[in-house]
Amino acid sequence: MSWEQAKVNAAKAALSEVEGYRVVGVGTGSTVEKFIELLAREGFSKNQLYVPSSIDTALKLSRWGLLVLDPGSAPEVEVYVDGADEVDPELNMIKGGGAAMTTEKILAYYARRRVFIVDQTKLVDKLGEKHPVPIEVLPCALAPVLRELEKRGFKAAPRYPGKGKAGPVMSDAGGVIVDVHTGPVSDPEKLNLMLRSLPGVVETGLFVGYADVVYVGSPEGCKALTKARR
Ligand code: A5P
Repeated sequence: MSWEQAKVNAAKAALSEVEGYRVVGVGTGSTVEKFIELLAREGFSKNQLYVPSSIDTALKLSRWGLLVLDPGSAPEVEVYVDGADEVDPELNMIKGGGAAMTTEKILAYYARRRVFIVDQTKLVDKLGEKHPVPIEVLPCALAPVLRELEKRGFKAAPRYPGKGKAGPVMSDAGGVIVDVHTGPVSDPEKLNLMLRSLPGVVETGLFVGYADVVYVGSPEGCKALTKARR
């Protein structure tokens, strides 16, 4: 048993959430990858249409022979499944470890039901404990946004890939990914609104009130955390 198994256990729980639906939104990341693998082996998946949150996810779905739609022209997503980087006791989340949070937030916001799958290591008391808050910034606003964040007391820097690309990580839509080091966040909604208020900031990785259910996998099994939808 391992933490890989914990991701698989969370992913398994999401299978029953999507059975019977026609249009399924699919997030991005290693936990979602497990979900896609399990899904592809389910007979019902051949009758479903998948709306991916990233090019990476579109390719993974296609490799398994699953039908992929363009998020910008797809019908309403009935159920959306995604991972997260941190989850607090209110089921608020930090997302964007894979730089896909803008499309992820669009899909999650407009979906009828939002299901998140994480392993136990993602649970935190306060968001920002382990991860910075990613934001997507238009390239033409990068330097002003960084200066403004510094003035407001935040350490923020464009995210750089390990290797294989000169310059910062860009989203699939062409925005620069900036990691904002906040430390533990006392009011995620307030911080989200502040960051969103800066011209040139397209979206943030703070997901406040988005989760209908979070399946938390452990090496031994999985538990469901729920909270009323806002
Ligand atoms: C992608 O941009 C992220 O929001 C992912 O959902 C998040 O990073 C979780 O990824 P893992 O499942 O790989 O931890």
